[in-house]
Amino acid sequence: MTAATDEKSKLKYFRVLLKISGEALMGSRPFGHDIEVIDQLCKGIADVYKLGVQVCIVVGGGNIFRGSSSASLSSCERASSDYIGMLATIINALTLQNFLEKNSVNSRVLSAIPMTTICEPYIREKAIRHLEKGRVVIFAAGTGNPFFTTDTAAALRAIEMNCDVILKGTQVNGVYSADPEENEDAIMYDRLSYMDLLTRDLKIMDASAVSLARENSIPIIVFSLKGEKIVNIIKGLGTYTIVLSGCKR
Ligand code: GTP
Repeated sequence: MTAATDEKSKLKYFRVLLKISGEALMGSRPFGHDIEVIDQLCKGIADVYKLGVQVCIVVGGGNIFRGSSSASLSSCERASSDYIGMLATIINALTLQNFLEKNSVNSRVLSAIPMTTICEPYIREKAIRHLEKGRVVIFAAGTGNPFFTTDTAAALRAIEMNCDVILKGTQVNGVYSADPEENEDAIMYDRLSYMDLLTRDLKIMDASAVSLARENSIPIIVFSLKGEKIVNIIKGLGTYTIVLSGCKR
């Protein structure tokens, strides 16, 4: 067995959807992009890609625009704020694409809001073909609709693409009973059920996203983008919380 096939045999997931928040791209800056952080993140994605895993990405836009907290635009209608946020995700998707290509990863950006001068429009069959041809697919502009989060877009695309798992990269290494930065007694869960997420207000994903994942039995793994290598997660190693159906606590 070659080293490459040996590595491949350790994989638990073969087609994954990675959800990256916009905030993960800004590092310790108050907003925008931290180039080193993004490069590191893309190197981690490249490691997974080089093992032959098919990777889909949904990225948020909170490093550029947060509808709920932007003082200057707080008087905007919710729908307008959400559209501005969707434009922010397109900026992040194109940024990620550039850093992925720099790390020798072929990728395509597909936008839910057609913007054909700068990227391809989202067409499900086309996205699947890109994955089959060994390209990372970055889904931009959320679901293309206001009143939906990029977490919901992640769940929707993961289901449409028949992904094995949703990998939700966060700033903490799993789901806790309370905010671990404010409560030192907070405990981290290894496993949770979708119902636990829905009924306990654990604030990891919004209810629409969790409900979609639950209805389609797609597991959600919550892990730290800073603390854990994505390649380890795909081998079932490291620290994370997994959300599954029928999981008893
Ligand atoms: P295959 O035909 O499956 O090999 O896919 P491909 O993406 O390599 O070929 P295609 O001819 O569709 O695209 C060539 C390049 O043009 C790629 O970089 C695409 O991302 C890009 N491209 C394709 N369609 C669009 C579009 O509607 N808008 C923009 N801006 N770029 C596009």
